[in-house]
Amino acid sequence: MTDYYCIVVIVLWPNPNNIYAYTVQAVMMEASSPAKAILFGEHAVVYGEPAIAVALDRRLSIRVRSSDTCRVDGGSLSMRRHRYLRWALNNLWNGEPLEIRTRSQIPGASGLGSSAALSSSIAAILRSLRGEWKPRDVATDAFEIEYNVQGGASPTDTSCSVHGGGILVSFRKESEHLWSISKGERTWHVHNLDPPEMTLVVGFTGRPSLTGRQVAKVRSFHERSGFARETIREIGDLVMEGVDALKDGDMVRIGALMNRNHSLLSILGVNSKELQSLVDAALPYSYGAKLTGAGGGGSMIALTDKPEKVASLLKARGGKPYIVRVSMVGCEVHGT
Ligand code: MEV
Repeated sequence: MTDYYCIVVIVLWPNPNNIYAYTVQAVMMEASSPAKAILFGEHAVVYGEPAIAVALDRRLSIRVRSSDTCRVDGGSLSMRRHRYLRWALNNLWNGEPLEIRTRSQIPGASGLGSSAALSSSIAAILRSLRGEWKPRDVATDAFEIEYNVQGGASPTDTSCSVHGGGILVSFRKESEHLWSISKGERTWHVHNLDPPEMTLVVGFTGRPSLTGRQVAKVRSFHERSGFARETIREIGDLVMEGVDALKDGDMVRIGALMNRNHSLLSILGVNSKELQSLVDAALPYSYGAKLTGAGGGGSMIALTDKPEKVASLLKARGGKPYIVRVSMVGCEVHGT
């Protein structure tokens, strides 16, 4: 990532409503955040079950400077294309207009957390411009952005993007607790979970996955079916087995749990024929494989020690493969 220098001058002045507003002069600030993959527990985590996610070595970064009008990548702030930035600026910012530039190595709507990385990065910049930058506050703001734009979310993606490495999100407070995030009656406790060295191959189906839509689909199944609620509880039990398997670095067990998690997600209705075709292609050379994120489209992941072979098989089935490793670097801000 490019290093550069900048000057930040923040001046407080009382606005007509007697609320202190920020004027930001000569600002050039950059934040970047990693992609994520959910290893276990997507969807179930929305209902208070645990989940495990890891940050990946692909990043999204945004750069801001003060400006006369809000602009994103040279154009005006669009209701449709810039929903996350728009919500953040409308609800978390009370200062001068900002010109924003985005750069991303994370394919959009792919299940790899591009919106979480964007939400974390803008939340970190807005906090930094106000002189505060604490990971737990950025994680809370980033969650609010995703929750409001998507119409529902757990803090898994955003907390993973802020923290980096691995996280366990759980309804119980365990050791290595980082922060807690609440919405309505639900509180999610976010913990550090050191993942073992592992190579994952992501297979993007090329078909965008809209998280809000998949979450709504599972919600309606959850509301009307005891079987769906039982399946979600079963995913929760499997995630806690996953914690032990990860701590032991037991690839065979991790892989078997991934396969089981994939089957349970299929029962919830978020698998697709493209995802299944990529999972089937990867399995002969992998410890395990599953869809990751919201599903419906988006991506699958395979845990393997033959990444090149798996990548070529995914490509042959029309997938876009990425060989990735876990990144310990979470959200970073430069230029304060
Ligand atoms: C999306 O990456 C993960 C879901 O569990 C939704 C969420 O936790 O916000 C499907």
